[in-house]
Amino acid sequence: MSITQTAEFQKHVEKLSSSSMGTEHTGPLLYALIKFTRPHRVLEVGSGLTTIYILAALHEISQLEKAEFANKRSNYNPDFRNQDYYRMQHSKFCLHTFDNFKHPKTSAIHIQEAAKELGLKHLLKFSNTEYQNIHKVLNKDEQSFDMIWCDVGGLINYSTQQNLLLPLLQNRTDGYMIFHSTLSNIHGLAFLNQLKLDILSGKLPDLELMSFFEPHKHRQNSCTILRKKGGLSSRIYSEQP
Ligand SMILES: C[S@@+](CC[C@H](N)C(=O)[O-])C[C@H]1O[C@@H](n2cnc3c(N)ncnc32)[C@H](O)[C@@H]1O
Repeated sequence: MSITQTAEFQKHVEKLSSSSMGTEHTGPLLYALIKFTRPHRVLEVGSGLTTIYILAALHEISQLEKAEFANKRSNYNPDFRNQDYYRMQHSKFCLHTFDNFKHPKTSAIHIQEAAKELGLKHLLKFSNTEYQNIHKVLNKDEQSFDMIWCDVGGLINYSTQQNLLLPLLQNRTDGYMIFHSTLSNIHGLAFLNQLKLDILSGKLPDLELMSFFEPHKHRQNSCTILRKKGGLSSRIYSEQP
């Protein structure tokens, strides 16, 4: 059973849910994406409900990989095992999250306690400061991530995050950068249109982009996922899918 289905986890979901943030489905989406793409190092900008979903997924894949590296069973057909992946040196599982507690309705103040109570504290590094300080706060060898989730919006933030954080995605496997609330608002659309232009004109090679929209909401209703193609996914392993 997934940790997200336990009563204890649901208790923290209730506590961390903030009506202004709109991440009720983004949390489970990030959880599923992490199980799917297996990042080891995740960066989050803007902590809260999504923090515990990310931690839960990192915990579950770390347990699974422990078994897989010990040649025990996994949750998929062993014939599909990609030896290239298992031969790689992988970083320790970790979520680094930044929040300055400036939002009046932030639930970020509770995430450390929630992580502790859920037994997930060992996976969490929390910085109570502006994400713009990242280069001062993290050591050089910590400034590399497989997935970056940005939940501090506004045009200035989107472009600061693109300039400051996108270069921190590693190249070995695919890297993902996810922006919240990019559709149906002027700031998000201006950012997205420039991003699309940069991709189409070749300024941002190896990037793919896809957005998802929650049609039942008029705010906090979307996310955009940037995929930076890495080494493994560019290889051809089989003739048939
Ligand atoms: C939209 S909320 C994050 C919601 C959270 N991901 C969730 O699922 O509940 C944005 C958060 O970013 C914090 N924040 C705003 N500007 C920031 C900055 N420059 N650096 C770090 N945190 C910031 C706010 O205090 C707020 O908690």
